[in-house]
Amino acid sequence: MAKSKTVFFCGECGAESSKWAGKCNACGAWNSLKEEVVSIKTGPSGWTKSTTGEKSIPQNVKEITSEKTERVAMPDDELNLVLGGGLVPGSLVLLGGEPGIGKSTLLLQIALKLKLPVAYVSGEESAEQVKLRADRIGIDNEQCMVITETRLEAVLQTMQTLKPEVVIIDSIQTLYSDLLEATPGSVSQIRECAGQLLRFAKENQVSVFLIGHITKDGSIAGPKILEHMVDTVLQFEGDRNYHFRLLRTLKNRFGSTHEMGIYEMSGSGLSTVKNPSQVFLVERDEDISGVAIAVAMEGVRPILLETQSLVSTAVYGTPQRSCTGFDLRRLNMLLAVLEKRCGFRLGAQDVFINLAGGIRIEDPALDLAAVAAIMSSYQGICIPSKTVFSGEIGLSGEIRAVQRAEQRISEAEKLGFEEIIVSKYCKIPALKGKIKVRQFSRVDEMFSWLFG
Ligand code: TYD
Ligand code: MG
Repeated sequence: MAKSKTVFFCGECGAESSKWAGKCNACGAWNSLKEEVVSIKTGPSGWTKSTTGEKSIPQNVKEITSEKTERVAMPDDELNLVLGGGLVPGSLVLLGGEPGIGKSTLLLQIALKLKLPVAYVSGEESAEQVKLRADRIGIDNEQCMVITETRLEAVLQTMQTLKPEVVIIDSIQTLYSDLLEATPGSVSQIRECAGQLLRFAKENQVSVFLIGHITKDGSIAGPKILEHMVDTVLQFEGDRNYHFRLLRTLKNRFGSTHEMGIYEMSGSGLSTVKNPSQVFLVERDEDISGVAIAVAMEGVRPILLETQSLVSTAVYGTPQRSCTGFDLRRLNMLLAVLEKRCGFRLGAQDVFINLAGGIRIEDPALDLAAVAAIMSSYQGICIPSKTVFSGEIGLSGEIRAVQRAEQRISEAEKLGFEEIIVSKYCKIPALKGKIKVRQFSRVDEMFSWLFG
């Protein structure tokens, strides 16, 4: 027996409430409660009444035997990397990203390249549109079935006969379950559909990829609960004006969350980038001021990035500080350090910082290149193009050691750089290579060496 009732769900955290309120009691978000109709099952409830049914049997942790799960290698090295070494059968993977960034392209491409039975469930596009995309990607696969369906029960029924090993749902926001009256994309529908798919994945040992939309503030649309339910959360991001796309792991029950894959969008789908540490460097014939190269790490991968800065006298009132790809608060902190600890008067200057290539990296080791670029632009003196920087700057103006210094140094050397500037406190074993390692303990020391 089921009857309907209206409840309010928080769009941020998925908390349920019987009354509307301006603020969610669970997470404190304002104006996030949305009314939804749900049908509830009536009957005995509560643990005291449920005396029937099987009891669960506790097991001693020592006695639990674990079988080593065989991972399925994906036909894409970058995806294997972010998944932590291949796809775990029976896992639920959520792929989030802004509209138009390439989520459907990425997963359709995987589906077409996989040598396993795959079902691509498209709730957003018609079969013809999927076919057009597949033609663009230019791969034929007889084992890839396309299903255009948005009713979850119908999808699951088809899966019983189709028996695929991988299922791709494009997207979770378009699915709806008959059990609920709420509209597709609502919190209760997303929660229910994800829950049923999770059960389906675990019971049948089928891996399921869910595509999820992203809201304006960058979080995956639907409640946070969705992120809690799935095993792995991947995020596809990049600047639509550039070709490069980054695939990051935000959560992974089967591997590290430090991985990142780099792709390039071309006319025929996405291709993996072979030399990721190099793609963001710009070829130049002559040196220009305001440019410094940083060696940053994304997970365990070193990436060389061009940090560009422009410092100019503020003409209109309050000076502007603007960043592309760099954290604005970090820039403000660095400017305060330069002003207070090194005596540079930047208070009346506009300062802009830009990481070339439309990439966003949050490695504190970018600090050193950022201040070098700022000072180079401010003083109008070029930094030698074969010099790279890697160091974090503390509030007192000291240069702090970075992790994996050795790996950064060898990557810079591999790409033909002649000199790297790091903290004095970095422990660097004797290097065999030709690259010169210069170590400073304070930013002002580095400046007097750089600019005389
Ligand atoms: P899409 O996968 O539809 O994005 P999402 O599912 O995340 O909304 O990809 C969208 C963009 O990618 C679209 O603007 C067209 C472009 N694109 C290419 O440049 N090359 C291609 O081969 C394909 C298939 C798409
Ligand atoms: Mg899409």
